[in-house]
Amino acid sequence: MLGKPIVDTSVLHLELEGNSVWPSEEVMAYHTQKYLNDFRGATVCELGGGMTCLAGVMLSILSEADSMLLTDGNEESVDNLNQIIEKNSSAFGKTKVTSRMLRWGDGPVEESLVDKFDIILCADCLFFEEGRKDLVDLVHTMLKPEGKVFMYAPRRGKTFDQFVSLAGEKFHTSVKEEYDPTVWSLHKQMDAKGLDHYDANIHFPLFLSMERINKAS
Ligand SMILES: C[S@@+](CC[C@H](N)C(=O)[O-])C[C@H]1O[C@@H](n2cnc3c(N)ncnc32)[C@H](O)[C@@H]1O
Repeated sequence: MLGKPIVDTSVLHLELEGNSVWPSEEVMAYHTQKYLNDFRGATVCELGGGMTCLAGVMLSILSEADSMLLTDGNEESVDNLNQIIEKNSSAFGKTKVTSRMLRWGDGPVEESLVDKFDIILCADCLFFEEGRKDLVDLVHTMLKPEGKVFMYAPRRGKTFDQFVSLAGEKFHTSVKEEYDPTVWSLHKQMDAKGLDHYDANIHFPLFLSMERINKAS
């Protein structure tokens, strides 16, 4: 669950980052299962879910969400998401699962997505210097006034804190390191061993939850 991405594309290029399933996505898939009640009847969107939207897909199967929109900003990722949905459609129960290309920073958000989601999920997308404010704005626009955001991301230098600081202008934010005993214990064990393939700075996801500050606007 923690450590190198499941599929390691040796080339770390912005367009290819979605080719791997990063530890944050795996941990999000695992940890959100503890909040299945929050998902009952909810409209949910995963942003920047890469090739798999693993957490969104698992929640489509395990939760009783009303709908799940799986998204990424990369066309190839979205093609793959379409195939995942097609192959797993019988497992989704009453949850309506769809996918689409959705990029933060691509101009005004279309009307059909405004104030639409009870829950927004996002894993390991906070490190992009460009587009950080666009991501904050997009989430704020898409989230219902009373909605919740669950984000998981490693520190990656100062980038996590920079995102939280910016998000603090529009959201109440809460950051947790020890949010789950299993994840914490795995992190501690791997960190203590000094393994080459485990660098907490890029592999240990922090848990950031957010709610809109001005719920009326
Ligand atoms: C590090 S990957 C994380 C993928 C997946 N959530 C995971 O953790 O395995 C970052 C993802 O953000 C997507 N991305 C980057 N910039 C984006 C943008 N402006 N709008 C939407 N998605 C973007 C990439 O296509 C990529 O899939």
